[in-house]
Amino acid sequence: MSKIIWITGAGSGIGKALALAYNTHDNTIILSGRKRHALEEVAQNLTNAYVLPLDVSDEQAIANAVTEVSETFGHLDILINNAGVSQRSLASETTNEVGRQLMEVNFFGSVHLTKAALPLFMHKKAGSIVAMSSAAGKFGFPLRSYYAASKHALHGWYETLSLELKDTDIHVMVVCPGRIKTDISKNALLGDGAAHAQMDLGQEKGVSVEKCVKAIQRGIRTRKSEIYIGGGEVLMIYFKRYAPWLFRFIAKRVSAK
Ligand SMILES: NC(=O)c1ccc[n+]([C@@H]2O[C@H](COP(=O)([O-])OP(=O)(O)OC[C@H]3O[C@@H](n4cnc5c(N)ncnc54)[C@H](OP(=O)(O)O)[C@@H]3O)[C@@H](O)[C@H]2O)c1
Repeated sequence: MSKIIWITGAGSGIGKALALAYNTHDNTIILSGRKRHALEEVAQNLTNAYVLPLDVSDEQAIANAVTEVSETFGHLDILINNAGVSQRSLASETTNEVGRQLMEVNFFGSVHLTKAALPLFMHKKAGSIVAMSSAAGKFGFPLRSYYAASKHALHGWYETLSLELKDTDIHVMVVCPGRIKTDISKNALLGDGAAHAQMDLGQEKGVSVEKCVKAIQRGIRTRKSEIYIGGGEVLMIYFKRYAPWLFRFIAKRVSAK
């Protein structure tokens, strides 16, 4: 069945891989992100793509983008709030401005877009809304204070939303990847807002985007509310929940890069 699928952060990494994985003759993929050229490159590999540049930290831009999607397509089947920025700086060395920037993109960007796009699901009272959290949305980790906070916040908001939508068929899922091999560590912000610009060893050894995307597609198909994706690092989510002392023991010793 043909679907209208909107993916943010679609010009690279997990978002790009999601766009390619959902590419069929029937589906239309709306590609958003700040860099138009990156979105256009992805679009060249898709059958039906709609390039819609968007900075999710800009509320007016979100309102305009949702109006454009509404006028062009009338409804949405899947919204994947994948856009995000990571952090590689000590809490004490991160400016408030950078902290706010991380919250604006990772938390407010996701929830503002979901809220604005919700009416596009209400015609059918069906569809899937996906929020990209992180393993760092389930536990704190060195050099990721604001990143972890922004991802933790998503859980509270989206769980509430899913409960408020209980009388509809709108499915809400929060995704918690561990380490996936993308450029996220290169694009991560240092305390002064500069790019970290380094591929972390942990990232380099991460799970492939293809494996990550398969798990996300399975989660959407089977209407999971929360999924964990990655290698051994995902165990930390369970340690934190069932053996917090073990979580702290390991987290103090594992390399944050
Ligand atoms: N890779 C991992 O290990 C991992 C682990 C846990 C969670 N995640 C989450 O997965 C998501 C995708 O990350 P990735 O690994 O694929 O890294 P990535 O390649 O750096 O992708 C991040 C994407 O977000 C977009 N973006 C950043 N700021 C934006 C803004 N203000 N407005 C719109 N788009 C924006 C970027 O595009 P533009 O620069 O063109 O805007 C980029 O395409 C993120 O939410 C990340 O937190 C990743």
